[in-house]
Amino acid sequence: MTIVEIIRAFGRDLPVGIVITDASIERPGPTIVYANSAFGHLVGRDLNEIIGQTPRFMQGKETRRATLDAFHHALRVGERFHGFLTNYRADGTKYRAEIDCRPLSNVPGKVEGFIAFEREVVRRIGRPFETHGGRYEAVSTSNDLLGDALRGLGVFSSSEADLRPSGPKEIL
Ligand SMILES: Cc1cc2nc3c(=O)[nH]c(=O)nc-3n(C[C@H](O)[C@H](O)[C@H](O)COP(=O)(O)O)c2cc1C
Repeated sequence: MTIVEIIRAFGRDLPVGIVITDASIERPGPTIVYANSAFGHLVGRDLNEIIGQTPRFMQGKETRRATLDAFHHALRVGERFHGFLTNYRADGTKYRAEIDCRPLSNVPGKVEGFIAFEREVVRRIGRPFETHGGRYEAVSTSNDLLGDALRGLGVFSSSEADLRPSGPKEIL
């Protein structure tokens, strides 16, 4: 059983968006090989419009190039990217996406694809919190077992370390 099969089995009903791509980083890649229904909902498209596309289809005028460059760098060196991007839905509405993307590999050192957990966040009113994502809070949270497991894995980690410079990119 591959990791993708495991995610297909468990990710379907998970309220957080999951998208998996192949390992081809340069244009026209990466190519989406799997997305769960929460991801389809997040980006406002049917899954059959998403599979086979590149995640770049969500980008628009206010998607910050500097953040995409940081994203690209992380993909190239096989590191985690955890940051915030302005993305666009099919109907043109924009939203803030928190993206936690990691390389997938069965053999150490050989990246076979990427998986990202994505969710919509909104800016907090008032001062940023010291912990829990700083300026942003999730639009919805899950309280199911798998959601807890993801938190256990540090997905969307809210540890203070993530709020330091190496953590999420605070881009407006
Ligand atoms: C699994 C995965 C999910 C991604 N999700 C998004 C996304 O939601 N929004 C976005 O703007 N870019 C997303 N990207 C990043 C783009 O695909 C692309 O890598 C980025 O634009 C940097 O590459 P470029 O410098 O060639 O544009 C994702 C990439 C991967 C591998």
